[in-house]
Amino acid sequence: MSKQTLRAGLIGLGAMGRNHARVLSSLDGVELVGVMDPAGDPAGAARGAPVLATLPDLLALRLDYAVVACPTAQHEEIGLALAADGVCALIEKPLAHSAAAARRLVDAFDTAGLIAGVGHIERFNPALQSMRARLEAGELGEVFQVVTRRQGPFPHRIADVGVVKDLATHDIDLTSWVTDRDYASVSARTVCKSGRPHEDMVSVVGDLSDGTLVSHLVNWLSPLKERFTAVTGERGCLVADTLTADLTFHANGAVTTEWEALRAFRGVSEGDMVRYAIPKREPLLVEHERFRDAVEGKATDIVTLDQGLRTVEVAEAVIDSAHHRASVPLQSPHRSTLSAVTQRS
Ligand SMILES: NC(=O)c1ccc[n+]([C@@H]2O[C@H](COP(=O)([O-])OP(=O)(O)OC[C@H]3O[C@@H](n4cnc5c(N)ncnc54)[C@H](O)[C@@H]3O)[C@@H](O)[C@H]2O)c1
Repeated sequence: MSKQTLRAGLIGLGAMGRNHARVLSSLDGVELVGVMDPAGDPAGAARGAPVLATLPDLLALRLDYAVVACPTAQHEEIGLALAADGVCALIEKPLAHSAAAARRLVDAFDTAGLIAGVGHIERFNPALQSMRARLEAGELGEVFQVVTRRQGPFPHRIADVGVVKDLATHDIDLTSWVTDRDYASVSARTVCKSGRPHEDMVSVVGDLSDGTLVSHLVNWLSPLKERFTAVTGERGCLVADTLTADLTFHANGAVTTEWEALRAFRGVSEGDMVRYAIPKREPLLVEHERFRDAVEGKATDIVTLDQGLRTVEVAEAVIDSAHHRASVPLQSPHRSTLSAVTQRS
């Protein structure tokens, strides 16, 4: 694709769509040419772009790509229509409400030869980017365990999926991505306290392909808002707070203790703690820059639809496990979901 301005459209102008409108309207090399939301733009968030009521009206504006930020249950229908019209798409997470729907999206964009990505925004959080780079460089040595906690209050607007597909998909995607390992099995328990049809609290224990232990505590039932990821390995523990984008390293101690009672324990001891000073760019802006570059044909890291599909498959295994109260093994994905570099020819 030539270096001319890309024509972008936005579908869905709710809580997340408003953020996409803000970033798209000031993204270099891109013009936000139209927004589609059947509810219109009561909050005045379209940044001067025309707001249309139907998808055909938006497609008539001849888009190079669209950002899909409507409710998860609508991602499949909208995504398939974009692929059929030859429009590249950045689809919000989770890719779709079911693995079968996510697979249909993968096939449609593959067949059309179009660039498409998923908005797993945590991958663009500076704390997790630094964590992944440090794990890749072997700073922790062998990795033993990944623990995540994602808690917060109830989002009244999300009614089409439960907390596993809406929120735990962040944890599933980031865990595979920071470790570069796929899930081997999951075991989970859920509860539903809100009276909605879907679960609103989940505890997951699982393992990755190399035996790394994982655990995820995710819910919509806590007044405490938390976004915590800890990776423990041979040399210590890396802790990311993705609300503040801070990354801290707790090193295993090399100092021998003089406290007799502790000397008997031959495991790990507390060492130094370092909070890294890392540049903090807005994750949504970085996500958009990468996607724009991919549409322009540059080699760049985006979250591929295959990876988005795998995350929904793992989420469904979590829900199955809770339903059957049994551990669920995961089949290997049919394609590699671990390396994210794409290039459009
Ligand atoms: N990446 C993230 O961190 C993040 C955060 C929040 C939400 N999300 C995702 O973004 C999507 C939207 O979530 P939200 O919180 O903005 O929801 P929301 O309910 O606030 O907004 C959804 C908007 O979509 C509109 N809409 C409904 N049907 C539509 C259709 N057929 N076509 C176009 N627009 C339609 C609604 O009128 C509403 O304005 C979901 O898939 C959600 O999982 C991602």
